[in-house]
Amino acid sequence: MSLKRRLPFLRWSVLRMATGARNITTTGQIGDGREAAAVDYVLAHARAGDVDDVLARIDEFAYSKSLLINVGDEKGALLDAAVRRADPARVLELGTYCGYSALRIARAAPAARVYSVELAEANAANARRIWEHAGVADRVTCVVGTIGDGGRTLDALATQHGFTAGTLDFMFLDHDKDAYLADLRSVLDRGWLRRGAIVVADNVKVPGAPRYREYMHAEQGSRWDTVEHKTHVEYQSLVTDLVLESEFLG
Ligand SMILES: C[S@@+](CC[C@H](N)C(=O)[O-])C[C@H]1O[C@@H](n2cnc3c(N)ncnc32)[C@H](O)[C@@H]1O
Repeated sequence: MSLKRRLPFLRWSVLRMATGARNITTTGQIGDGREAAAVDYVLAHARAGDVDDVLARIDEFAYSKSLLINVGDEKGALLDAAVRRADPARVLELGTYCGYSALRIARAAPAARVYSVELAEANAANARRIWEHAGVADRVTCVVGTIGDGGRTLDALATQHGFTAGTLDFMFLDHDKDAYLADLRSVLDRGWLRRGAIVVADNVKVPGAPRYREYMHAEQGSRWDTVEHKTHVEYQSLVTDLVLESEFLG
């Protein structure tokens, strides 16, 4: 493994990302155009209709050009396994970015309808280009909004996309880390999660979602059954992270 892969702070794109940290929380992008560049790279280099190749090219861009805040290949394998375990028909993801994790979910669950909620319109537009190129745009949908926007997005999911009681099999939380718990509670309040549904949460250690983790600890064995996966922050092997995989016990 190259030194730059192991020690990510040796990469210019990581240093540029550190200076763009404020952008990420306000615009959902790093601020130097790398997300649009990643889409252009994928459309130029990945075979159309080949999901594996599209995902490989996104990883290639993140390793060799500019770091992206996708779930990445290592944590992505944990996500794939959880999706296969749930064998979902309907998936809700929070946090689309460039559409990478939604594409992994669609690959792991070939019959599923995947809905991804994203704060930033520019990210939704990028993700839709990726999904179109990969050939999954007919079953992967980006809904621009947030679960915390006063009911607008939750209502849109219900009225426009058929979310009803007990129909949601899988959730992936990968958006605002401070919103994980409140947004999960909002979805629970709607009754959409079926008993046995799986919820996966990324970045529970870095940047960290401590209240979400405490909640899952407190509910262990009663409402939820959680496994904590020790792993690494995306696209490097130095900084560790936690991914939580929780089964809804009802
Ligand atoms: C870490 S990235 C998601 C990466 C993506 N899941 C992947 O692995 O390919 C976080 C994304 O969440 C979006 N975001 C931030 N706060 C949000 C919120 N409250 N609701 C929905 N999306 C949000 C950001 O704009 C950004 O695109």
